[in-house]
Amino acid sequence: MVKACKLFFLLLLVLVIVGAIYAWRLKRRGFSARNQPSAVETLLARTMRNMAIPASARNEENPWKDLDNAANRKEAREHWADHCAFCHGNDGSGNTDTGKNMYPKPPDMRLAATQNLTDGELYYIIENGVRLTGMPAWGDARFIDQDDDTWKIVLFIRHLPNLTPEDLQDMKDYNPKGKMEMEDEDDSNALPKMKNMPDMPNMPGMDHSKPGADHTKH
Ligand code: HEC
Repeated sequence: MVKACKLFFLLLLVLVIVGAIYAWRLKRRGFSARNQPSAVETLLARTMRNMAIPASARNEENPWKDLDNAANRKEAREHWADHCAFCHGNDGSGNTDTGKNMYPKPPDMRLAATQNLTDGELYYIIENGVRLTGMPAWGDARFIDQDDDTWKIVLFIRHLPNLTPEDLQDMKDYNPKGKMEMEDEDDSNALPKMKNMPDMPNMPGMDHSKPGADHTKH
């Protein structure tokens, strides 16, 4: 009994010391999301996350595995460009304005740490999201086991390390565009037209064919 008590207090002491060191480091470094999580922090967070995925979900087979054809790949690629690339990048590197400044940051999904996850684990993460990170839950809780779009994205994630320049080019058209970006594009399209504009008389507001604009009548 005395031994158990001693062990308990020893554990408590270790926890308090570790907590104090963590608090001290946090105070020194601040809590900016720009910082890079330490290797220990990343290892702990990932291990705990992966352990929390139920075994049944982890071992689930991708029902679309045999349908990994060009059409399904294209659909998933464009879905990724539209929904995921904002944080993960079209190439899965996580190297985007948002991704680089998150804490934790989206990992480079072309690397082994992601590619070694099972299809079931990838599916589970996408459907349920990851708490205390920026990774949202994409699944509809009512149909969590049968989201074909997510299974197709899992197929696509396996192709991230080998995307071709053509794939990446195609994806650019599917990246969401804000109003400002669209306006910028309109402006850049309009510029060459302005340059090539015919002579003054045809400019808007000086159109002599319009009623009231014909000054010769006066
Ligand atoms: C708002 C930003 C954001 C968006 C949008 C987003 N993610 Fe994530 N995602 C993250 C972050 C941050 C992580 C890291 C989570 C962690 O550390 O556990 C992550 C992790 C993941 C992982 C786990 C990778 C690994 O190796 O641990 C998968 C799989 C994933 N995202 C898939 C997707 C898919 C598919 C989409 C689109 C349908 C998507 N994400 C959209 C931010 C985002």
